[in-house]
Amino acid sequence: MLYAKNISKFYQGAENPAVRDVTLTVRQGDFLSITGRSGSGKSTLLHVLSSLIRPDSGSLLLEGKDIACATDRERTRLRKEKFAVVFQQHHLLPYLSALENVLLPFLDTVKPVGERELASARRMLEQVRLAGREGSRPGQLSGGEQQRVAIARALAGGARVLFADEPTGNLDSATGEAIIALLQKLNHEGLTVVMVTHNPEFARCGNRAVTMADGRLA
Ligand SMILES: Nc1ncnc2c1ncn2[C@@H]1O[C@H](COP(=O)(O)OP(=O)(O)O)[C@@H](O)[C@H]1O
Ligand SMILES: [Mg+2]
Repeated sequence: MLYAKNISKFYQGAENPAVRDVTLTVRQGDFLSITGRSGSGKSTLLHVLSSLIRPDSGSLLLEGKDIACATDRERTRLRKEKFAVVFQQHHLLPYLSALENVLLPFLDTVKPVGERELASARRMLEQVRLAGREGSRPGQLSGGEQQRVAIARALAGGARVLFADEPTGNLDSATGEAIIALLQKLNHEGLTVVMVTHNPEFARCGNRAVTMADGRLA
């Protein structure tokens, strides 16, 4: 599905590249974990794979098409249609309900939110087991529930790949385990998952794991 070949990324002013010469394949249906110490380049690699940032060299093939050098506009469109991204912080809007937060990605289109979008948002909340909490604001939800709303929002647009950067980083271990179990369920239902985690136990929950050290795949 996604093939990164000889990817490198340098940040301006940094002594060493954050990612150097990484070659990696993500297959459809994978649950791939990326582990490694803090500063080893995990987030940078995830951001390159999910097209949030452009690599300085190397190529990124999505279903055979090179997207590393596509225009920004094309990359934005691709990202919105194909990729979902969640972070350690959930980035939910506090004054909106869970359902409204999940509807957010639909708001920047020309058309008003319709029945189809509403149905899709409701279905996503069901899939993350929050059907009864549609009207709750983030402040009324637990940390794990907030992260589940963020996952529902990320996936509401129909993306088939989820990139998650330390999705359990802010959660206690039991809540973190529940998030991993949810990702496994979504993966069994067909979602491809690429997850950065520094928790070795969680890294074993997928079908593949790679480790980064000093910007390289160890
Ligand atoms: N925006 C940035 N500007 C400059 N350096 C950065 C930036 N983001 C990350 N880095 C550096 O790149 C390296 C890899 O960082 P990162 O990808 O965040 O690693 P990880 O997610 O494994 O902790 C680190 O040395 C970090 O300090
Ligand atoms: Mg990181």
